[in-house]
Amino acid sequence: MSIERKILELKEKQDQAKLGGGQKSIDKQHEKGKLTARERINLVLDPNSFEEIDMFRITTHSDFGQVGKQVFGDGIITGYGSIHGRLVFIYSFDFTIFGGSLSQVVAEKVIKVQELAVKAGAPIIGINDSGGARIQEGVDSLAGYTSIFMNNVLHSGVIPQISAVVGPAAGGAVYSPALTDFVFMVRNTSFMFLTGPKIVKTVTHEDVTADELGGADVHGTKSGITHFTYDDEKTLFAGIRELFRYIPNNNTEEPLIEACDDPIDRSDEALNYVIPENPHKPYEMKDVLFQVLDQGSFLEVQAGYAQNIIIGFGKLNGRPVGVVANQPKYLAGVLDSNASVKAARFIRFCDAFNIPIITFEDVPGFMPGTVQEYNGIIRHGAKMLYAYAEATVPKITIITRKAYGGAFCVMNSKHLRGDIVYAWPTAEIAVMGPEGASEIIFSKEIKESQDPKAKLEEKINEYRTKFANPYVAAGKGMIDEVIEPKFTRYKVIKALEMLRNKRDDNLPKKHGNIPL
Ligand code: HXC
Repeated sequence: MSIERKILELKEKQDQAKLGGGQKSIDKQHEKGKLTARERINLVLDPNSFEEIDMFRITTHSDFGQVGKQVFGDGIITGYGSIHGRLVFIYSFDFTIFGGSLSQVVAEKVIKVQELAVKAGAPIIGINDSGGARIQEGVDSLAGYTSIFMNNVLHSGVIPQISAVVGPAAGGAVYSPALTDFVFMVRNTSFMFLTGPKIVKTVTHEDVTADELGGADVHGTKSGITHFTYDDEKTLFAGIRELFRYIPNNNTEEPLIEACDDPIDRSDEALNYVIPENPHKPYEMKDVLFQVLDQGSFLEVQAGYAQNIIIGFGKLNGRPVGVVANQPKYLAGVLDSNASVKAARFIRFCDAFNIPIITFEDVPGFMPGTVQEYNGIIRHGAKMLYAYAEATVPKITIITRKAYGGAFCVMNSKHLRGDIVYAWPTAEIAVMGPEGASEIIFSKEIKESQDPKAKLEEKINEYRTKFANPYVAAGKGMIDEVIEPKFTRYKVIKALEMLRNKRDDNLPKKHGNIPL
């Protein structure tokens, strides 16, 4: 055969592979409101940057009707490309081939790019749209899943791992996304659950739809499994590209610093008036974040889950930072189990990938009550404490108002190796709030008084004057500086610059034992 014929043959095979399960299956995919595996890759990567690997792999299994149905690619497309010019590896399940189910070949293709990604020190994105284990391939499929999980774990904290779930993810298909750093989901067409509605009905007698059981909103608001939720796939893939502006390629690199034209000394008088005079009144912490961070730079993570704490990425003079902030507008910003776990995992991501952590604190304490105690708030709160304590990246705290009790200790205090802790003049730093404290320490005096109510009021005021301010803590060096709110941006950027070459280590060990 001449070389021309051979090249023609190659092109024909490439065209055939690019059709996946065929035009009919592609049309079916579009009718469901879903994109194809290749369309998704093209949306997330820089134009024309995709280099495919293993295009011609086919299944070698022959049980249960796979013979004659072999299709190039075998249910997944794998390779590498770039996002904002930076190398990234990718795999995208092709639902048009055996429902994107995971065969031995599919697993081997994923494993190959996982291992290349870690060798090349580049992030990996998995796009999931799959019927789970390929039933015809039995244990080979299960083994394939397990090897992928193994790599997810070994590569955790080495390269960023991102999952998009844009179709079904059931059974084994959920654990790889769950092991990765960020999960993106799309409303109406994606769902994740261990067992589907039919099995749920048999076992627990619950009637539930796939969407009610594991849709994007369920995981974005109730379980906290998904970090980003979108209305359509196009915006989802734009969201992944946006995330890449804040994260480095791997754990030995720092995130890219972008040129910034937002002046570092930009200050707004309005920041001085954000805190209401009445300490019980809520305010929007995001107003503070938007004033302090580079304009337009805030990317919130898990926005719909445990809203009493805000987490997300931002930039300060072009440098990516992780932000953890109590939200006084939601449950008064109290720390409960979900908020603690949400923050803890984010802090550990930032620490693993050299992203400084900026904490904005206004917290009345941990949530009391049987619901939280039975739910294990002690253990969950300890996760956040542990995460802050072990983090060695630059850590800066700004106490805007309340910093009471254990919450003061936990939210990156000086004693957890907080590098710089600022307080606004509106800060209240004490063991507990004036009301609770007065009822305990002055109980006898109040009881014996002729007018207990007036006495309590008097004692609350006395306590507030003495403790509900930043100066006691500042006098002991537990606050580095009390600052005028409008200068916060400048102060934090200067502290961040000062910490540019920060070095800090933990004792050598195999690994710690975080209270899971
Ligand atoms: C092989 C599969 C498949 C699978 C779907 N297909 N899932 N083939 N193995 N797991 C095939 C279908 O036979 C069909 O082939 C094509 O993919 C499209 O599937 P449809 O059912 O027509 O699509 P849809 O109506 O959109 O439903 C999608 C679905 C459903 C919800 C994913 O197919 C489904 O429930 N599949 C089974 C899910 C499941 O139970 N998986 C195993 C989980 S156990 P044709 O030829 O007709 O087009 C597991 C254990 C691993 O994963 C544990 C590891 C720890």
